[in-house]
Amino acid sequence: MKRIAIISDIHGNLHALDAVVTDAMNKGFDEMWCLGDTVGYGAYPSECIEIVRNRCNIVLAGNHDLAACRALSLDEFNLEARLAVEWTSDKLSNSEISFLRSLEPLKFVEVEGIHFVLAHGSPMNPIWEYVVGPFELQRTFYFLEDKEAQGAFVGHSHIQFFSSSKDLQFEMKRPSEKLVFEEDTIYILNPGSVGQPRDYDPRAAYMIIEVEDRSVNAEFYRVKYDIEEASSSIIEAGLPLFLATRLRLGY
Ligand SMILES: [Fe+2]
Repeated sequence: MKRIAIISDIHGNLHALDAVVTDAMNKGFDEMWCLGDTVGYGAYPSECIEIVRNRCNIVLAGNHDLAACRALSLDEFNLEARLAVEWTSDKLSNSEISFLRSLEPLKFVEVEGIHFVLAHGSPMNPIWEYVVGPFELQRTFYFLEDKEAQGAFVGHSHIQFFSSSKDLQFEMKRPSEKLVFEEDTIYILNPGSVGQPRDYDPRAAYMIIEVEDRSVNAEFYRVKYDIEEASSSIIEAGLPLFLATRLRLGY
């Protein structure tokens, strides 16, 4: 049996990341995977890189990571995101930049005979595409079927959800209880965002999956953290005010 904690979209929010790592350690895990966007928006990019580097067995590149290490143009970013990326770039050491440059936005993984696809955005366009509606869900199911994978773990939208191919339901559900994978069914799951949730629940989000004897179950979690401290640090760093206030709103 293997327990894997899956985190995503930390965005330099050290307070949220610490709370999630502590919660996951209390629940117990064998591996930790990070689906990207470790930096950008928050005031502690280097500290978050260090934790992810030390703790995670797999780390994907997100669009903010790639922009912060100058491997991706800033043209597609909105004003707040661009200002935060530029602020982040100036803070990073050469070693942190090399680390971000070494990451990929897509990975294929096998755990105890079950194949998974890990993507920051969608598996088809892992840097930029948001999996947020029936069109992207359906294309992702086709992609997974083609690769003989039973599940995709995606980030980027900052919304904790799952969707299953059963009965052709291309609907995103907000998880409330343990999800047990059924046979001949494909799943798309988003652990939500550690450092900047956008589903109107300001608590940090992550998930733990358990894989045993070709069965998979997933539990989605929300963790309270010191939002006031995280917001204050963003303001003190001179980053855009909106990045601080949205943490309190969970959007
Ligand atoms: Fe993100």
